Amino acid sequence: AQDKLWGGRFAEPTDAFVEAFTASIRFDWRLYRHDIQGSIAHATMLAHVGILSAEEAQQIIAGLKAIQEDIETGRLQWSVALEDVHMNIESRLIERIGEVGKKLHTGRSRNDQVATDIRLWLRDSIDLLSAELRRLQQGLLDLAEREAHTIMPGFTHLQTAQPITFGHHMMAWFEMLERDHARLADCRKRVNIMPLGSAALAGTPYPLDRHYTAELLGFEGISDNSLDAVSDRDFAIEFCAAGALIMTHLSRFSEELILWTSAQFGFIQLPDRFCTGSSIMPQKKNPDVPELVRGKTGRVNGNLTALLTLMKAQPLAYNKDNQEDKEPLFDTVDTLAGSLRAFADMVPNIHVCADAMRLAVNQGFATATDLADYLVRKGMAFRDAHEVVGRAVKLGVDTGCDLSQMDLKELQAFSSLIEADVFDVLTPEGSVAARSIHGGTAPEQVLKRIQEARNRLKAS
Ligand code: ARG
Repeated sequence: AQDKLWGGRFAEPTDAFVEAFTASIRFDWRLYRHDIQGSIAHATMLAHVGILSAEEAQQIIAGLKAIQEDIETGRLQWSVALEDVHMNIESRLIERIGEVGKKLHTGRSRNDQVATDIRLWLRDSIDLLSAELRRLQQGLLDLAEREAHTIMPGFTHLQTAQPITFGHHMMAWFEMLERDHARLADCRKRVNIMPLGSAALAGTPYPLDRHYTAELLGFEGISDNSLDAVSDRDFAIEFCAAGALIMTHLSRFSEELILWTSAQFGFIQLPDRFCTGSSIMPQKKNPDVPELVRGKTGRVNGNLTALLTLMKAQPLAYNKDNQEDKEPLFDTVDTLAGSLRAFADMVPNIHVCADAMRLAVNQGFATATDLADYLVRKGMAFRDAHEVVGRAVKLGVDTGCDLSQMDLKELQAFSSLIEADVFDVLTPEGSVAARSIHGGTAPEQVLKRIQEARNRLKAS
């Protein structure tokens, strides 16, 4: 009845608005390479099992490759009337190679085709993102090693807590990203399963060799239930959840970089080329990159929510609802790729202002816990030591003087257990060196963790 590939049963052409409303080519054209890759494997398999002649498969494959070339050189005009990337390419194939092109779709539906395309696309995207994650992790390891002995205040409640090393702080980010990397790798296993052969929903009567197609496409296995394979997008949701965590980590990282570059902290400087200025205030150097990454976390969280809501309560099997899976998924990958790239480029170039951190660590009584621990070693119960040091801090607050700046006699007024060796533990160096436990902030421990991490990265 019309020029549609499915036009046979229709008595009138599609309403022009409906045609545009239901089309996905505006965004799913991005799947073209994987759509063609899947079609080439499908055609190869059809010949392998004798459904197509070798000659027919050859013609189809050559046609598909030529179409890819047309797309990549901008010679193919996507058509909204042809709805999506799958039908655009199939129509173009038929136009190009004639009757034999009509045989490609044997034993296949767009439902298993699109599920396959997304999995192939996402698998490549995961590999790209994993590599960017690794690049950022390498940058963190280098920075942590360089600053393994640099002392800064550690915070809880954003109030000065205890001295830590900058290297230790960087390694905290490293660990978060390490779990993110593992989550992507785990998700990839479930992405890497092939739906082809499920056809529309029930499977196909043709004797397709699904294992052969899967092997051609590098899939780890094939799906075991056709209804499930064409309809569930849990693998995309899982990926978006892993992505939301990556962004959550980057947003925490961003928040600290923003705080630290402020005049009030002054702990670090970002290179000028990663910052922008103000159109009115001449002095401004704004940390736009971390701010944007912090902001973009919102859209990635939103994409996860969108996909969960999209999937919720869909009856089996495929529903057109699922066409809405692509934009949130694409946007998640794009946002992650941009954010990780920006961070991987920026982190190795962070300038650390050790003096400012040193100054800050001497305010806020960062070694108060060390004094309490000192008293415990001299025989006092910890709860009593806590009380004694609390009183010393109170005096320090009133007189504007840090514990390490008080003289021995002043300190001894709080406890006769205090002797001249107390000043060893009141220094930030002594404080961090004392925390030489696995996972602690002592430079020797941090350097060990860095070495272990380097080995792990080399092995993976
Ligand atoms: N463009 C569709 C999608 O993205 C492809 C599958 C369409 N299948 C169908 N029976 N209408 O989901």
